Amino acid sequence: MKANIGLIGLAVMGQNLVLNMSDHGYKVAVYNRTAAKTDEFLTGPAQATQIIATYSLQELVKSLESPRIVMLMVKAGEVVDHYIEQLSPLLQAGDVIIDGGNSLFTDTNRRTEALRKKNLRYIGAGVSGGEEGARHGPSIMPGGNPDAWPLVKPILQAISAKVDYEPCCQWVGDAGAGHYVKMIHNGIEYGDMQIICEAYQLMSEGLGLSSDQMQAIFAQWNQGKLSSYLIEITANILSYKDEDGSPLLDKILDTAGQKGTGKWTGINALELGIPLTLIGESVFARCLSALKEERVTAAKLLPKSVKKFTGDQKSMIDAIEDALYASKIISYAQGFRLMREAAKEYNWTLNYGDIALLWRGGCIIRSGFLNNIKQAYSANPALENLLLAEFFVKAMQQASIGWRRTVILGVEMSIPTPSFSSALAYYDGYRCARLPANLLQAQRDYFGAHTYERTDKPRGEFFHTDWTGHGGKTASTTYNI
Ligand code: 6PG
Repeated sequence: MKANIGLIGLAVMGQNLVLNMSDHGYKVAVYNRTAAKTDEFLTGPAQATQIIATYSLQELVKSLESPRIVMLMVKAGEVVDHYIEQLSPLLQAGDVIIDGGNSLFTDTNRRTEALRKKNLRYIGAGVSGGEEGARHGPSIMPGGNPDAWPLVKPILQAISAKVDYEPCCQWVGDAGAGHYVKMIHNGIEYGDMQIICEAYQLMSEGLGLSSDQMQAIFAQWNQGKLSSYLIEITANILSYKDEDGSPLLDKILDTAGQKGTGKWTGINALELGIPLTLIGESVFARCLSALKEERVTAAKLLPKSVKKFTGDQKSMIDAIEDALYASKIISYAQGFRLMREAAKEYNWTLNYGDIALLWRGGCIIRSGFLNNIKQAYSANPALENLLLAEFFVKAMQQASIGWRRTVILGVEMSIPTPSFSSALAYYDGYRCARLPANLLQAQRDYFGAHTYERTDKPRGEFFHTDWTGHGGKTASTTYNI
């Protein structure tokens, strides 16, 4: 009997996806560049399964039923192109290649089109949930050539996480849309992680709480409006003790790594001109953390005056919970706003409510809060910004005071809160009917004759003033061709 699907790349995510498929009754053929790894897998975790080992791409392709489905679980970038190049001549019209890695969406755009010309169907699928998710049910965000979807839908939905019996795997959209949505997921992941880190530093350094005290607080927050996987694992991390009985967390070097998906999200936001400040600050916070030696030197030369917190601890902890919640709302509002712009720019039809549902289970950012987002888009699919939805208007009003107190605490105690405070600045800016950009426009016109619009004239009419009496009447836009 031939295999239903082939999978290339037996690193931990690949192995676990194969085992997951096998558990769901699919026959899987596997290939790995290093044959020893294939053997280890077959004699180890894949023992007593029907998984087929193959040792060349030819053998892999031959072992598959038609139309063939081959899933790549290899490093994003050139390696994906390499396998596509090697596989394409071995496949037949109508066969499907799925890339399940964290590929850049523009690469997926290009690959979908190139393979369409060869009559091959390409899918770029974001897969989230780490090792555990891959093994027991990830969130899957497939996009690409829609003709491929009916062929892969049963298997991808079977292996995905389920919430309320709904699979956390639905078609996202054409070309790179699936990988784009995964990129936004990762950006939001960066943001969620950073705001949790800010809460942790405020509580440990600012309020002087112990790991055990903070563990209890995070565990309690996980029962409320912040209930989410990342809050849950933070509580677990805080309670984890090293061999000597002290918290392991205290011994971990404070330099964050990153593989680039958060950076891509920020770059895309800049390209599309949509504020994505919380995620942007979260990426930069990782960059700042990486400058460890410089920071150690600066800590000596620019010492902080250490202040002791004297207020009501319980009420401050509640305020920090509010700051987390409000900042999280801002981050998702910014992320969804960016997706909206991307849909327009790249000609995708994205269903924002469905995207929220995709993220409810299996993935790293899974949380109860995504149901509120789904409801907001169900009530108004054309919603411009989540902050304008009734539920979030109220939530922001309720959390606002605590959020401000939290940012003030950080400022007073010299504890950095880049994401809490940039989110607050966005919130205050977004609800400002008049920003100081009038002055900015005047400055641009003053030094560069860049022109401005007037509040007492219709939009689209541009004016230039000779501010100094020495300039001419020619506006710089006059030079536009
Ligand atoms: C997921 C994650 C995953 C990501 C890691 C590491 O959804 O399962 O987003 O895809 O690669 O979280 O990302 P960084 O190394 O950039 O932190």
